[in-house]
Amino acid sequence: MREPVISFDNVSKHYPLYTNVRGIKNVLFNFPRNLRAMRSQRFEALRDISFDVYRGEKFGIIGRNGAGKSTTLGLIAGVLRPNEGRVVVRGRISPLLALGAGFNPELSGRENIVLNGILMGLTRREVLSKLDEIIDFSELGDFINHPIRIYSSGMLARLGFSVVAHLDPEILLIDEVLGVGDIKFQQKCLDKMMAFKESGITMVLVSHSISSVISICDRAMWIEDHTVKMVGHPYEIAAQYCKAAGVEVDLGDIPQNVEFSSS
Ligand SMILES: Nc1ncnc2c1ncn2[C@@H]1O[C@H](COP(=O)(O)OP(=O)(O)OP(=O)(O)O)[C@@H](O)[C@H]1O
Ligand SMILES: [Mg+2]
Repeated sequence: MREPVISFDNVSKHYPLYTNVRGIKNVLFNFPRNLRAMRSQRFEALRDISFDVYRGEKFGIIGRNGAGKSTTLGLIAGVLRPNEGRVVVRGRISPLLALGAGFNPELSGRENIVLNGILMGLTRREVLSKLDEIIDFSELGDFINHPIRIYSSGMLARLGFSVVAHLDPEILLIDEVLGVGDIKFQQKCLDKMMAFKESGITMVLVSHSISSVISICDRAMWIEDHTVKMVGHPYEIAAQYCKAAGVEVDLGDIPQNVEFSSS
C-alpha cells in the first residue's frame, strides 16, 4: 500500500477579523466587550480540507488568488497551525518557498543559504559543500554577497528556488516560483522540477501556471473558496478549473505526466 507522507484531516485555518472596532476611546472604554467581539469574528482561510500526498508523488495545487493555496503550504511546512483538524507530515521538509520567507533581509544571499540549510537540519559542512552549486544555479552574480533586502522579487525567487532545490529535502514545497522568475530562470526551474519527477522526492507545487502543473504533477488539487473543490488527474482538474474561470486554454499540446496512476 502507498504511504501518505502528508495527511490533512478535516483541517480548518482561520484568522481573527479586526474590522468592527472604531476609535481608540471606544476600544479603551469597552475593552473586554471589544476583545470578545473581535475574537468572535473570524475569517476562514481554509475550511475543512482533507487530502493525502503519497511518498514520491508530485502534487499540484491550483486555485484563484486568495483561495488558500499558500495557507495549505504553510500548514504543511509547520509555519502555520490548524485551528481544527490534524496535519501529519512525515519527512524532512524544505523551507517554505514563498518570496523571501525564511530569509533574513540583513544577511547576504550567501549567508541566507547557509542559514536555511542549517534550519533544514543539515550540518554546516554539508551546506558548505553545496554552496557553490547553489550559487551557480541562482546566477545572482555579485549580488550573492549583498544583503537580500536589496533584491528584486525575481532575485529572491532565484535564491529561494536554488536553495530548496539543492538541499535534498524529502518533501519539496514550492509556492509560485514560476511567476516571478524571468523566462530563462523559469525554464531552468522547470527543467529542475522535471528532473525531480524521476527521483523519489515528494513535491507539492502551488502554481498559476496550469501547463507546468499538468506536465510536472501526478495529481492536482483545486482549492476554491477556501475548501477542496476537486482532487484528481492534473489534466482533468485543470480543464475543470479553466472552464469554471471562463478561460479557454488549449490544453491539448501540453505534455502530460505519463506516470500518473490514480489513487
Ligand atoms: N495572516 C493573515 N491574516 C488574515 N488573513 C490571512 C492571513 N494570511 C492569509 N489570509 C487570508 O487567507 C486567504 C487565503 O490566503 P492564501 O495566501 O492561502 O491564498 P492563495 O491561494 O495562496 O492566493 P494567491 O494565489 O494570491 O497566492 C486569503 O483570503 C487571505 O486574505
Ligand atoms: Mg499564495
